[in-house]
Amino acid sequence: MHDAKKSGLDIPSSGPKASMKKRVCSDGKHEAYLGVAVTLALTIVGCSVSPAKQSEHPATLAANLDSYPSVDQKLGEHLYPDEKPIAEKLSVVIEESIRKQYSAGSARRDAHPKAHGCVKAEFNIVDTLPEALSKGMFVPGKTYQAWIRFSNGSGDPTRADIKRDARGMAIKVLGVPGKKLLEDEADAATQDFILINHPVFFATDPARYLSFMNDANSDHFYRKLLIPFDLGAKGTRIALETRSSKISNPLQTRYWSMVPYQLGTGPDREAVRYSVRSCSDVVDPMPKEPSHDFLRDVLRNTLQNDDACMEFLVQARTSDRMDVEDSRIEWKEAQAPFSKVATIRIPRQTFDTPQQNEFCENLSFTPWHALPEHKPLGVTNRLRKVIYDHISRVRHEMNDTQREEP
Ligand code: HEM
Repeated sequence: MHDAKKSGLDIPSSGPKASMKKRVCSDGKHEAYLGVAVTLALTIVGCSVSPAKQSEHPATLAANLDSYPSVDQKLGEHLYPDEKPIAEKLSVVIEESIRKQYSAGSARRDAHPKAHGCVKAEFNIVDTLPEALSKGMFVPGKTYQAWIRFSNGSGDPTRADIKRDARGMAIKVLGVPGKKLLEDEADAATQDFILINHPVFFATDPARYLSFMNDANSDHFYRKLLIPFDLGAKGTRIALETRSSKISNPLQTRYWSMVPYQLGTGPDREAVRYSVRSCSDVVDPMPKEPSHDFLRDVLRNTLQNDDACMEFLVQARTSDRMDVEDSRIEWKEAQAPFSKVATIRIPRQTFDTPQQNEFCENLSFTPWHALPEHKPLGVTNRLRKVIYDHISRVRHEMNDTQREEP
């Protein structure tokens, strides 16, 4: 069993002061009638219910907008019109949606609110890692401790695991030395990697993404019919594909970063994407009579008996056609193979305790908990710098919980 105290994976005792309130939402009741638009609205971004309250974080939001990321033209980045004001508007729209959906003490993540569990892991960098990949925290032979949160993508935390959905894997590597990119958390010792079980992201143009969020969160039902127009044919197809998966075990699922990251600094820096897969090809059959939260049960039962093993992979871009801004474009493995950078060992453990679940709920993941050598790239990541920080603050303030990196 894993020794939490020795590894630095000990859990502070503070937590949310109230239990979760049931989300007031139609839970896809109308999906059969209104097809694509409603499915997208209710399962990708959730639904809205009652009037919102003003933000209590205008100062930090303004500071985040002041330090909006600059673009790296050498790596193919370029700004879209009005990115900064759109990042602010998106932050406000998402904040309003959370305040409508949850009452104080019960706020959840806007996306991926349902966790299957937070597990302790070891992130072991490959001994023989080539020099070209040995950048930032990728130090050959080094072992880090980590937390991994597995989740469903739907904004509805009460949704049954057997229903089709996107699946998330958020890794928080601990004890990573060096100044980090977030100004407020520059001294945090964490490096996060956030992945979903689909290779591409459904949106790229921030103005269209804002229209999508506005329509998805509107109280007027007809606005949800506009969603496919906001996303366009390609975005709609990717969104539907992304939320269509059924999985039998989160430890046997393949995940991708969807969006790119820098590797290294200086003249030889490059753009990469990440992926994580199981060390073995074994995939459990789908259960015949799945319980409502069967993915948590599977995770608990698997780790009760055995260690689990996953591989962390890096895909270096091999052509300018592998776009850094447009994350709807897949970087095909045939043209840009993945290289193994680390083994993720998830030791046999008991993770499903009230204390650890509470700790998990209070964690904040963002691609910007990162060293400069792993700087997030592209418009989606630039928007996320502002939005994730703001939404995490709102969530913690609503729950009256401490917001701190482990
Ligand atoms: C502009 C686009 C995006 C927006 C507005 C957005 C928004 C959010 C928000 C508000 C949260 C909750 C943050 C918190 O409360 O701490 C979240 C969590 C998450 N997002 Fe995104 N997201 C975007 C793109 C992506 C992409 C491209 C991925 C692909 C990997 C992704 C994967 C996740 C995952 C896995 C979580 C859950 C992390 C956890 O376990 O805590 N998101 N997102």
